[in-house]
Amino acid sequence: MCGIQKCFGEVKAVRNGNFNLKKGEIHSLIGENGAGKSTMMKMLYGMYAIDAGEIKVGGQVVEHLTPKIAIDRGIGMVHQEFMLVNELTVLENIILGFEPRKGITIDFEKARENVQKYIDQYQMDIQLNKKINQITVGEAQRVEIIKTLTRGAEIIILDEPTAVLTPQEARRLFEILENLKQDGKSIVFISHKLNEVMQISDRISVMRQGEYIGTVKKEDTSPVQLTKMMIGREVFLNIEHKKAKAGVPVLKVEELWTSGEKEISKIRGISLEVKSGEIVGIAGIDGNGQSEFIEALTGLRKIEKGKVFLDGKDITNLSVKKIRKAGMNHIPEDRNTRGLNRSLSIKENLIAVQLDKKPFSKGILLNESGITEHAKELIKKFDIRPQNPDTITQSMSGGNAQKVVVAREVSVAGKLLIASQPTRGVDIGAIESIRSILQDVKTKGLGVLLVSADLEEILSLSDRIVVMHEGEIAGSMYAEEANEENLGLLMMGGNKVREGEEKH
Ligand SMILES: Nc1ncnc2c1ncn2[C@@H]1O[C@H](COP(=O)(O)OP(=O)(O)OP(=O)(O)O)[C@@H](O)[C@H]1O
Ligand SMILES: [Mg+2]
Repeated sequence: MCGIQKCFGEVKAVRNGNFNLKKGEIHSLIGENGAGKSTMMKMLYGMYAIDAGEIKVGGQVVEHLTPKIAIDRGIGMVHQEFMLVNELTVLENIILGFEPRKGITIDFEKARENVQKYIDQYQMDIQLNKKINQITVGEAQRVEIIKTLTRGAEIIILDEPTAVLTPQEARRLFEILENLKQDGKSIVFISHKLNEVMQISDRISVMRQGEYIGTVKKEDTSPVQLTKMMIGREVFLNIEHKKAKAGVPVLKVEELWTSGEKEISKIRGISLEVKSGEIVGIAGIDGNGQSEFIEALTGLRKIEKGKVFLDGKDITNLSVKKIRKAGMNHIPEDRNTRGLNRSLSIKENLIAVQLDKKPFSKGILLNESGITEHAKELIKKFDIRPQNPDTITQSMSGGNAQKVVVAREVSVAGKLLIASQPTRGVDIGAIESIRSILQDVKTKGLGVLLVSADLEEILSLSDRIVVMHEGEIAGSMYAEEANEENLGLLMMGGNKVREGEEKH
């Protein structure tokens, strides 16, 4: 890809994009939120047309790429939001749109044989008969990879594939990627995690604000150099952990039961306490009930049995609005459907929950300049880009949209902040600032309930950690006793604490 340009209206997403991928290499593409990584790769996969520049595949210029042409040219892409159909089986998903036919019926026999070949070759551990809603995130990702392979992919693009994986699952993904590479496939790996990038890449390309910065070989670089290339300064992620001055309980959950999206995500009798001035981290593999649990606490899902108290007040099954009013702030994991109103601007989203407060309202009229000033302040503090408060959030990159939600939720006073995956998909500079903001929130005396699939995040922020597995608490410990290994084990369901055993 050479001299690529791409605008979305006013926004120059890519000004000068260059990227070259060799046969049989793993090539990481890194850069801050909004640098243009996803846009570059969506152009390579034919989802967006390029405005200028040239794309060559196998030495040949390809014009007017579409996903169909891209697939014909051996290009496959695994998006961060998987595009699998929940009601269909794994096998049906893999062959969807490419079904082998026997007369007018689908030849499932042949399809199964063909798919199984790839599964065996790469030791993927996929069960073809299961429905998508019965499999784990890691498995869904392997299904997406198989899907590209069965369509003949020689180039596989993975956009932030490890953001949703446990360390164990990430390790397995890397083994698969290594095997694919050995077979001569070329891999594009987008990630914000430099330790992964340093572990798996042959070469690394860096983008900054739509510009190509450079390409380095793994042996010739270091995380420090890569960070400098990405943002022009050094970043220290090991924020000093501030000790908790835990006070009174602000959140008390007693024997909570609720329904689940899946069998393993039903909540079965969870009890938990968060005190003011402490961060309690909930670790667990995605889909083990974390989302359902948080929905129940925040009024989005009906509590079937049990009680929730916020600052001593019974908030069980109250409305979302009443719970917010009682002092619960929430950074939801799904910023697209719950966190943001995508058709509104940054500034409108920033005040969405506090319209009736000064300095935003003057009687019944909204105070326009107050709103804009407030927005500008938060945009600066959180380094939200683009900086124009009138930007419609629909058009923002994943990480920047997330920053808007975080900015809003930590800027309203409350008793308890629930932060679900607060730094998912956010770049290293923003991770640094969001994490130190969460610590500030705690030092100011709020209780923080942190849900994260990122163990490093759980470990670096939490004072206490509970691990959820299949809708129950599999174990809990103080941060000092925890490490990636013992947490990882609990997350997989090992060592479940039984009734009567001591819990913190
Ligand atoms: N469909 C779109 N419409 C308008 N603007 C867009 C669109 N897609 C991306 N942009 C803008 O293009 C720029 C690059 O976005 P892109 O998603 O490529 O960034 P990224 O490097 O993948 O960031 P992240 O790490 O946050 O995913 C951003 O400023 C974004 O707001
Ligand atoms: Mg992206």
